[in-house]
Amino acid sequence: MRLALIGFGVVGQSFAEIVSAQSAELSRTYGLRPRIVAIVDSKGAAVSPGGVDLPSALRAKKDSRSLGGLGGVYREGMSAIDVIREVDCEVVVEATPSDLTKGEPGLGHVRAAMKEARHVICVNKGPLALAMPALIELAGHNGVIFKFSGTVGGGTPVLDLAKKCLEGCTIDSIRGILNGTCNYILTKMSSEGVDMKDALSEAQRLGYAEADPTADVEGLDSACKLVITSNYVLGTSMSIRDVDVTGITGVTMEDISSAASEDKAVKLIGHVGDGARVAPETIPLTHPLNVSGTFNAITFDTDPAGEITLVGKGAGGRETASSVLRDLIEIRQDFAK
Ligand code: HSE
Repeated sequence: MRLALIGFGVVGQSFAEIVSAQSAELSRTYGLRPRIVAIVDSKGAAVSPGGVDLPSALRAKKDSRSLGGLGGVYREGMSAIDVIREVDCEVVVEATPSDLTKGEPGLGHVRAAMKEARHVICVNKGPLALAMPALIELAGHNGVIFKFSGTVGGGTPVLDLAKKCLEGCTIDSIRGILNGTCNYILTKMSSEGVDMKDALSEAQRLGYAEADPTADVEGLDSACKLVITSNYVLGTSMSIRDVDVTGITGVTMEDISSAASEDKAVKLIGHVGDGARVAPETIPLTHPLNVSGTFNAITFDTDPAGEITLVGKGAGGRETASSVLRDLIEIRQDFAK
């Protein structure tokens, strides 16, 4: 299966590493032979119909922060849209940084890919936060598969657990910790007394935060994951503008100590049910949502199964890339039907 990888940041590189390291196993276990025929970075694109040499691409990116070091296969100035229109492939993976105000450039990439009849795996949250219902319709109109598991929960299968494994249950509300960076910061503040600014720098260094971390700390990243989950699982048609959002920038060390003195923790929690909101809340230390570090936790309040909570790593390149691979395997399986 031929793929164009749009965006070669933390997630894009991790995905290339996994594909390169697991190629024999993917073929043996799933009959999946992914061939990445184009990789687009911010300055151009590496294109090779036989498959871009992934170890060389990864080395070039690490050595010079650009794919330019790949030589002949690299076309400086070639854009993602050029690649989507001109390079033959079945699947486009959209992994450019999320922009939550206009959704671009990811939104344009996803639309162009669907119009060119490419299946799309989107890890970029912007297009979904702003235009999810329209994109689902466009995918259906063009007869392509649209997957976006990595937009919520990193590597944790939040969306598919709720959609597939809870069939037959009614889900009345959803509540959860949806941003790994904020949870990492709040954990560092409470367990080590690290101040917010230093904890955020550490989260950026470790590749958890967004390119613009304002989206993390101001709660917008959580809000967009709430929107994606609600639209996918509850069948709503929300956009990020429908969520009442307060981030963690106003949380002080005093708030955290005061919660701790009552055996509680301060967490950034998203809720959808009676309205949609994201805000810091205090929860008992024994609460199932009281997870630490970059973990996400999400509770589905269901009937008749009751409350079901899923916990897993919500941020990180390898974790999120595992969702891209899951989506790809599913597309491959749909092909085989
Ligand atoms: N910045 C995001 C987070 C990455 O911290 O959760 C995963 O979407």
